[in-house]
Amino acid sequence: MAETKEAARPRGFRSAELGWPELHRIPHPPRRVPLVGDVLGASVRSPLQDSMRFGRELGPIFRRRAFRNEIVFVWGADLAAELADESRFAKHVGLGVANLRPVAGDGLFTAYNHEPNWQLAHDVLAPGFSREAMEGYHPMMLDVAERLTDHWDREQAAGRAVDVPGDMTKLTLETISRTGFGHDFASFERSRPHPFVDAMVGTLTYAQRLNVVPVPLAPLLLRGATRRNAADMAYLNRTVDAVVASRRSGGGEGDLLDRMLETAHPGTGERLTPENIRRQVITFLIAGHETTSGALSFALHYLSRHPETAARARAEVERVWGGTDRPGYEQVARLRHVRRVLDESLRLWPTAPAFAREARHDTVLGGVHPMREGAWALVLTAMLHRDPQVWGADAEEFDPDRFDAKAVRARPAHTFKPFGTGARACIGRQFALHEATLVLGLLLRRYDLRPDPGYRLRVAERLTLMPEGLRLHLERRPPVAPGREAIPAGAADRGPGPALGPGNPPQA
Ligand code: HEM
Repeated sequence: MAETKEAARPRGFRSAELGWPELHRIPHPPRRVPLVGDVLGASVRSPLQDSMRFGRELGPIFRRRAFRNEIVFVWGADLAAELADESRFAKHVGLGVANLRPVAGDGLFTAYNHEPNWQLAHDVLAPGFSREAMEGYHPMMLDVAERLTDHWDREQAAGRAVDVPGDMTKLTLETISRTGFGHDFASFERSRPHPFVDAMVGTLTYAQRLNVVPVPLAPLLLRGATRRNAADMAYLNRTVDAVVASRRSGGGEGDLLDRMLETAHPGTGERLTPENIRRQVITFLIAGHETTSGALSFALHYLSRHPETAARARAEVERVWGGTDRPGYEQVARLRHVRRVLDESLRLWPTAPAFAREARHDTVLGGVHPMREGAWALVLTAMLHRDPQVWGADAEEFDPDRFDAKAVRARPAHTFKPFGTGARACIGRQFALHEATLVLGLLLRRYDLRPDPGYRLRVAERLTLMPEGLRLHLERRPPVAPGREAIPAGAADRGPGPALGPGNPPQA
């Protein structure tokens, strides 16, 4: 599409009636309230879980209205597969993603498709996620994971339960900040979250609230929150500027920040501007840890509730790693059962629980719903992953065997989408999967995880998902004999699942 035509498209929120001429065919919740919309039974704190509830009642495509803004939601597997067709649809920067533009600008995650900085940054940064780059990050990931286990050993020895989401957030923030930017937030030396995390949570929560409050009214209706958000954004900028300034005075070893500062585009010779580098660093520090910490936390929750799954995954870790203290990159890639636990956790609670797609041209969705060019819909990944037509009548149950190779091959394409889809899918997918598989392996081998019997899973929403208030009791397991040999590559690969690796992605 010509640049000028793209640039002329309206930005910001486009309510569904502008792009869906037959909107009346799409069901909405009963009891719509004049002026305010579908607010009965909905909460600003749980927009995703409210939408999941409405989805169950209304079917695979439905709509919700908040004030003057109407949104079309899609979760049926057939319709979602159509929306994944890159020749007809593209990423739509809307809702929470667009609301993050003041902080992340034209950084990779929030860039509009037509903005030249997206392609430039994508091409410059993609090699930072190659297999070679991952192998380079692996020892640093291990170092950070050891900080976590030191901390958990101390908590366990003191008879205290561990704060899973809090500690997973420390772990993943340290991992991305050290591997990507050579920066140490000293998260494990603090009793409270680092102020960077507080500021980040503040901006994410604010962006989520803007989804339901019309933007022009936000300064009035959210006066205090708007002030706090400005302070949070200033803090994020200051932190990132300090990280960049310290690197400019030397010290990088070819990490993401070095790429941002020094690498020219291989085709055009262009470089990222200082302002865009600031946006990218904020983007990677946030996108690079928030969703992974949620994924790890949900996986630990399920492992603690399914001791037989934990035992099977642990047996695999002991078989593949033997008595080694520091498993190698390949030994993580071979943990198929652990990986299936992670996939199944991301199926039930994809921590980035939705993504938006817009029509590249006038088209008809599912043969019944005409969409004008630019019209968009939100794919509810958390519901797509529970579509009983794909996942069966027990779709709500946790069962990692859904991801054994045969089951994966038997499912239609585009039914498992925790990392989004197409050209704008997650650039950090392998990074997150490697980090999370490594950490789950280390934790399973070291501890028995005991749930708090009174805990019922509550899911906190701040654009991303996190199990709220999850604490686990730990018991140290006897160490695997140091001399015990790991099973050599090949022998351990006879398990039923697909090996993890760039050449063997999950169903996508
Ligand atoms: C389990 C962990 C993760 C999940 C579930 C996840 C999920 C996603 C999803 C769904 C998208 C697409 C959003 C959309 O279409 O609007 C995305 C994009 C992105 N993610 Fe992730 N992500 C994870 C980890 C990471 C990590 C570790 C990094 C960086 C190290 C990262 C960096 C990004 C970036 C930069 C984008 C934008 C890509 C583009 O548009 O070019 N993510 N992620």
